[in-house]
Amino acid sequence: MNGNDSKKARKQVRVWCDGCYDMVHYGHANQLRQAKEMGDYLIVGIHNDEEIAKHKGPPVFNEKERYKMVRANKWVDEVVEGAPYVTTLETLDKYNCDFCVHGNDITLDAEGLDTYRLVKTAGRYKECERTAGVSTTDLVGRMLLVTKDHHHSSDKTPDREQASSISRDSTSHSPWTGISQFLPTTRKIIQFSEGKSPKPGDRIIYVSGAFDLFHIGHVDFLEKVAALDGFVIVGLHSDQVVNSYHKSNYPIMNLHERVLSVLACKYVNEVVMGAPYTVSQDLMDHFKVDLVCHGDTPYKPDLNGKDPYEVPKKLGKFRVIPSGNSLRTFDIVNRIVKNRYDYLARNNEKEMKEIAAFEALKASKEKTMNSDSNNNSNHNDVTAQ
Ligand code: CTP
Ligand code: C5P
Repeated sequence: MNGNDSKKARKQVRVWCDGCYDMVHYGHANQLRQAKEMGDYLIVGIHNDEEIAKHKGPPVFNEKERYKMVRANKWVDEVVEGAPYVTTLETLDKYNCDFCVHGNDITLDAEGLDTYRLVKTAGRYKECERTAGVSTTDLVGRMLLVTKDHHHSSDKTPDREQASSISRDSTSHSPWTGISQFLPTTRKIIQFSEGKSPKPGDRIIYVSGAFDLFHIGHVDFLEKVAALDGFVIVGLHSDQVVNSYHKSNYPIMNLHERVLSVLACKYVNEVVMGAPYTVSQDLMDHFKVDLVCHGDTPYKPDLNGKDPYEVPKKLGKFRVIPSGNSLRTFDIVNRIVKNRYDYLARNNEKEMKEIAAFEALKASKEKTMNSDSNNNSNHNDVTAQ
C-alpha cells in the first residue's frame, strides 16, 4: 500500500468551527488554519444576525457578508449558515464532524454560560492558539481613535494603550481577549502563504492597492480577477504610501496585518509586501505581468501627477474589473463611528461577562485544590494512626 492509498484508507477527519466571524480578520483566519491542520475537512458554522444580537449585541457586518467572507478563506471547505450559538452534539453529528475547534478564550451565551460546555463534557472539543493582538474589539477601538500608532507594529506606546482602552472600562481587563501586541513572524507568513511559483504558461495577473480592513468588496473584486484564470499577485502599498493618499489614520491595519489578511484569501496566489504606487515597466518585467487589473473605484495620480497605470495601459495590458460591490474601507469606519455607543456598550458588556466567568473558574479551581489537600491531610492522619 503506498502513502496515498493509506491516506485514502484512513477515515477522513471532519472538523467543526463556529462563531460570529464579524469583521473577519487574520486572527479568525489563523484559527481556521490551525483547525484545518487538525483534520482533513473543515466546516464552519456561522451564527445569523438575530442570534448574535441576542447573545452578544449587533454585529458590524450582516450575515450575508459574514458568510461570504468565511467562504473566501482558503482553509474552509464548507460553510453552514445560521449555526446555533451553543454548540451541540446534534450539530456535530448532523455534519458528521469528529470534534469542534475554538481558540483558547471563552465564548459566553446571553446567560453567561460557556457555549462549548456540551461538546467539552463529551470530549469533542479541541483548542487552538488564539492570535494575540487582534480582535473585532481592538479594530473598533482603532477606528474610533485617530492614531497612526498601529503603523509601528513593534512598539507599544502610551498612544497604543489609549487606543486599546477606548472600548473598555478603564478598570476592567478581559483575561482572554485583553489586547496585547501582534508580533509578525516569518513563520506566520510561511504558514499563510502558498509558497508556489506560477506554473509554466500561467497568465500572471497583478492588482495593487491598500486592501485595508480586508472586506467583502475586496473579496468580490478578487473573485472576479481569479475567474480570469491566472496566477494572482496582490501588490500591497506600504503604510506610508496608503497614508499619503488616504490621510488621517489610514491604514487601520498595518502592512504585516494586511499581508496576512490577503494571503488567507483563496483567490490570491502571492503578495508583494510594500508595492510601489506606480506600476512601472520594471515591475511588469520583474513579475512577468500579463495583465494588470483595478476595480471600478477611483484612484489618485502618482507624485508626478501621472496615472499610476500609464505603463500597463500603453501596453494594452490593463483592465477594469467591476466588483459589483460599492463597499469601501471608509464605509466600514463610518458604520463604526455612527454606531459608536452601541459598539462600546457591546464590547464592555462582553468583557465584564468574561471577567466574571474567569473569576468563577478560578474560584472553582481553588476550591478543588483545597478539598484535594484536605483529603490528603486526612489520609495522612489515618495512616499515621
Ligand atoms: N479567534 C482567534 N484569535 C483572535 C480572534 C478570534 O483565534 N484574535 C477565534 C476565536 O477563539 C473563535 C473564532 O476565532 O474560535 C471565532 O471567533 P468569534 O466567534 O468571531 O468571536 P471572538 O472570539 O469574539 O472574535 P473577536 O474577539 O475578534 O470578536
Ligand atoms: O481601495 P483599495 O486600494 O483597498 O482597493 C484595492 C482593489 O480592490 C482596487 O482594485 C479596487 O478598485 C478594488 N475594490 C473593488 N470594489 C470595492 C473595493 C475595492 O473593486 N468595493
